[in-house]
Amino acid sequence: MRMKAEQFYQAKKENTAIPLSFISPEELKKQWAKMSEKEKILIQHQQFKASAGQIGWFINQEGAIQKIYIGVEKNNKAKALAQAAQQLSPGLYQLSEPLPCCDLIYWGLAQYCFNVYKKNEDKPRILLLEEAESSEVLPLVDAVFLVRDLINFPTSDMGPRELAEKVMQLAETNGAEFKQWVGEELLKENYPAIHAVGRASSSEPRLLSLNWGDKNAPLLTLIGKGVCFDSGGLDIKPAQAMRLMKKDMGGAAQVLGLAQWIMSSQLPVRLQVYIPAVENAVGPDAFRPGDIITMRNGTTVEVDNTDAEGRLVLADALVKACEEKPELLIDFATLTGAARVAVGTDISAMFSNDEKLAKDIMEASKIVNDPVWQLPLYEAYTDLLRSQIADLSNGNDSPYAGAITAALFLKHFISENCPWVHFDVMAWNLSSKPGKPEGGEAMGIRAIAQYLRQRFQN
Ligand code: BES
Ligand code: ZN
Ligand code: ZN
Repeated sequence: MRMKAEQFYQAKKENTAIPLSFISPEELKKQWAKMSEKEKILIQHQQFKASAGQIGWFINQEGAIQKIYIGVEKNNKAKALAQAAQQLSPGLYQLSEPLPCCDLIYWGLAQYCFNVYKKNEDKPRILLLEEAESSEVLPLVDAVFLVRDLINFPTSDMGPRELAEKVMQLAETNGAEFKQWVGEELLKENYPAIHAVGRASSSEPRLLSLNWGDKNAPLLTLIGKGVCFDSGGLDIKPAQAMRLMKKDMGGAAQVLGLAQWIMSSQLPVRLQVYIPAVENAVGPDAFRPGDIITMRNGTTVEVDNTDAEGRLVLADALVKACEEKPELLIDFATLTGAARVAVGTDISAMFSNDEKLAKDIMEASKIVNDPVWQLPLYEAYTDLLRSQIADLSNGNDSPYAGAITAALFLKHFISENCPWVHFDVMAWNLSSKPGKPEGGEAMGIRAIAQYLRQRFQN
């Protein structure tokens, strides 16, 4: 039922596949003079102009398809490949020119469909790859598929309990260790904010842990916001704002996709994943505006708004992570609407306490076409998180700099000297674009995969 990358790619063998060639409108014009009358008629009949993603085919003497042209504009081959993958008939294809793996993945990404609740009889279009390409392309595509699946599942089948099962399965398949602290155990083991935010739900709050790799390898810790549904809590969201909030575990989904990629590519790191998994629900036991939570590190936080729950659950997990002194700490979260106002839906907003790290990640993001943009941790705005009666407030009424103040809130829980990166992501495509079907989406993890490969692989 779940889509796998291997449905869309196969190892190259001889002459079984239809060749695909890219052509730009300018190139088409140049080639026109060289074409036979028959070819010209075919091209005209198809009204083929080599516009982006347009398909044009040639037939041989026997009337079988000999070769297919894919129109490409602005040299955006990834986009053209995605558009082609959606339009071609099911069958075997092969590119006439080599493409980098970060483009090849779009063939698979374009064909993803969440078909768990509504059947899809579509047969796959299969692209033939060299072995070296397969070993890079397939794990990346599978990571994105996992992210999308996890987000697309409705909360009725992906609450804190089910998310825990998914992490457990991921750990089992990859020989990793899984642990969790559930319900009252959170209080006993000092995760007060995760408990407070999640306690009103019938699916108990929990902190999930996955640990993998060589004990002596550098420790990389990933943290993902796992709010399986964000109703806003007692500060309940209006219908429009609540509609997509099954995606509020999108940070956890990113981290799990990345973890699967790290483990399947055997990246030489010690991997620690923490996911606070909760539902921000309304109920008699719900935490309230004005409540004060004494956090894992002793900081007291006054709850200004129960809808600013993500930073609360992340804070406990960040403190736990810092206790273990990782070499690199990365969190992903669908943390603020303000980040979407700042950089829109498609760009991942990124913050870091280490400028070199931020710069390197932005560079990596450009290479793999997974847009990331750094926003500042502007210290003076910490004033906006002041509380009269506690160390910090989890929000304020200001309509300004919401993504930055949320990031500054998180920073309060990061130890000095711990290199840390925070991603505030949309995790959702509002409409379908080439290679990006409407629904849950991986954002920022291909950039991080590229960065990690450059830093840790040999
Ligand atoms: N999960 C939301 C943020 C969100 C909203 C992400 C829409 C993506 C799309 C988060 O928990 C939230 O509600 N944040 C509030 C914070 C405010 C109450 C300080 C927000 O951004 O409005
Ligand atoms: Zn919220
Ligand atoms: Zn939220």
